[in-house]
Amino acid sequence: RIVDLIGVPTDVGASARGASMGPEALRVAGIRQRLEAHDLVVHDRGNVSGPANPWQPPVDGYRHLAEVVAWNQLAHDAVYASLRAGHLPIMLGGDHCLGVGSISAVARHCRETGRKLRVLWLDAHADFNTSTITPSGNIHGMPVACLCGLGPAALTGMSGAVPAISSKAIRQIGIRSVDEGEKRLVHEQDIEVFDMRYIDEMGMRHAMELALATLDERTHLHVSFDVDFLDPGIAPGVATTVPGGPTYREAQLCMEMVADTGRLASLDVVELNPAFDLRNQTAELAVDLVESLFGKSTLMRK
Ligand code: ARG
Ligand code: MN
Ligand code: MN
Ligand code: MN
Repeated sequence: RIVDLIGVPTDVGASARGASMGPEALRVAGIRQRLEAHDLVVHDRGNVSGPANPWQPPVDGYRHLAEVVAWNQLAHDAVYASLRAGHLPIMLGGDHCLGVGSISAVARHCRETGRKLRVLWLDAHADFNTSTITPSGNIHGMPVACLCGLGPAALTGMSGAVPAISSKAIRQIGIRSVDEGEKRLVHEQDIEVFDMRYIDEMGMRHAMELALATLDERTHLHVSFDVDFLDPGIAPGVATTVPGGPTYREAQLCMEMVADTGRLASLDVVELNPAFDLRNQTAELAVDLVESLFGKSTLMRK
């Protein structure tokens, strides 16, 4: 299996500067070598190059909309090219606004190849804001809404169809911060959410069994891994920490259960912010978890 690493070094959608340094921090943490250790052929495609961060206040509910669209188009094109080549793209973010471009490419590919799409959204946040309800104007809080057809046309239409994906294709795991207006939308759109309350009561294993239910050989499984999914105690290197996230063990189990499906076909690693990190520990943890996502296990599998 050939894996393409695609760096998308931007923070135009974020609440703080620094996620633009994420791709290099993941490389320094050895993402390439750790994947190669699992018999994957890894092509590091380097970074795409887009507009600078103008660091301006929101306009009509969006900060940096033009720059966010430009970066997402670049992400879309790179991820789509990788999928067309039959490779498995790993997008190294960058902030989570890039989920629009990456998953729009996956949606386009699935439409063209008759595959079914399942998106696992690992995050502290639902990322379902719109320009009218956002408390911040930051577009990294809006990608799931955009993918479901709620948002500016330049983002909702990126896959060539609106909505890019059905809200039924999404499973959110680890959620513990949803804004007031956002709550109503998540409910209206009937998104399947395994929030921290659910994980506390039922366990990560049960949450993942349900989130991964009904996959079959035609399913393309995409994982969008926002590093703020993890508890800030183990993952300080993100700008939008929320206490009470999955532990190291819970996160490992989550990744291992994805690996066991054998359906993983594309991945985003986003929101890693080295400006907040301690000696690259969050990048190293993210790489460790990515390794588990690709089948690292302690013992031989029976
Ligand atoms: N809900 C907040 C907002 O809309 C925070 C979003 C954080 N999203 C993220 N991808 N880290 O601003
Ligand atoms: Mn988040
Ligand atoms: Mn996110
Ligand atoms: Mn591991």
